[in-house]
Amino acid sequence: MDELREKSPTPGTQAPPDAAERVSLAISAAFDHRTRAAEAYHPVFAQLWKICGERVAGGKRIRPRLMLDMLAALSDDAVPDSAIEIAAAIELLHASFLLHDDVFDGDLTRRGSLNLVGLLAHDEQTDAAPTPERLHWARSCGILMGDLLLAEVHQIFARVDAAPDLRTRLLDLLAHAITESVVGEQLDIGLEDGAVVADTATVLEMCRLKTATYTFELPLRAAAILAGAASPAAESALATAGAHLGLAFQLQDDLLSTFGDPAAHGKDAFSDLREGKETAVISAARMTSAWPEIEPAFGTGSLTSTEGERMRGLLRDCGAEAFVHGLIDDQMRALHETLADPASGLPDAARDTLVALADRLDGRRS
Ligand code: IPE
Ligand code: IPE
Ligand code: MG
Ligand code: MG
Repeated sequence: MDELREKSPTPGTQAPPDAAERVSLAISAAFDHRTRAAEAYHPVFAQLWKICGERVAGGKRIRPRLMLDMLAALSDDAVPDSAIEIAAAIELLHASFLLHDDVFDGDLTRRGSLNLVGLLAHDEQTDAAPTPERLHWARSCGILMGDLLLAEVHQIFARVDAAPDLRTRLLDLLAHAITESVVGEQLDIGLEDGAVVADTATVLEMCRLKTATYTFELPLRAAAILAGAASPAAESALATAGAHLGLAFQLQDDLLSTFGDPAAHGKDAFSDLREGKETAVISAARMTSAWPEIEPAFGTGSLTSTEGERMRGLLRDCGAEAFVHGLIDDQMRALHETLADPASGLPDAARDTLVALADRLDGRRS
């Protein structure tokens, strides 16, 4: 997991070492504060904040890191508190989306252990599988906590110490990222449940919307706004670069979820196959003669590890895995074309930061 946490190898394009620590401190302080305030209500409410704070501590933190690296590339000034707050808020936005996503996807594990829903559903006394009532309670808590975090993110953006026009641009960017993420998640669920017609173009657009916008475009453009110097053309180039990087990142996530090592990515090994997720891997497999052999087990809730392994083999042999690797390469090529365009007005340091990031993402295992 730590390969993406490491420092950027490109000199001059990385945030000062203490900035990431300041973000971590801001996140823990927000949870400590909220947990204490929650104690005035029922103990289960304080427990919800406490558990969520512990779960949030386990991520790779690529979004705040990306924002701080881009800020360092665009500005020589010391990292202001406003940037630390926005970087922390972007990680909280991610935490909010993950809470809701794990409910949609019926997942009980993340980051190598039980997620918030899994923890609340787990009965320590009996260690038995959760009852439907216990699962309902845990999932409802996950949705409520996701709502609270989303509200917290808005509070942080709305109160950030920045000139009013910059604050408005940040708030508009946040609204754009939330809208696109929600559309993406809606399409994802619609594709899985058959409410949206599955074709590769729609699956790719769903991936861009649900992941690329909030994971890459949001932190990159937030850095440009906070640096105060980026031209509209440069901000637009950052959005395009973010879309390519983010789509590549989500396609990698789909490959990892299907073929990767659960000890490295920390999620359920066969959740996507068991749940019947319409990923790019599945969309590619549908176009091959192997699909009739794959289809009967796809989306089977009771899929065993042996059946899962067999499906993996079929998906590999039919060329679906290689097809998705090709799609990732397409996005990386498009990224380099965007960066090579002199009309973008991107400073060299910003290009270097994006190239270094693309290199770090290449071949990631978590
Ligand atoms: C996982 O994101 C969800 C996606 C958008 C693909 P990350 O891979 O950044 O998850 P954590 O925060 O490191 O667990
Ligand atoms: C990724 O969803 C996008 C968000 C979490 C908003 P996925 O369902 O594809 O990601 P994982 O595999 O659960 O992390
Ligand atoms: Mg999921
Ligand atoms: Mg999902």
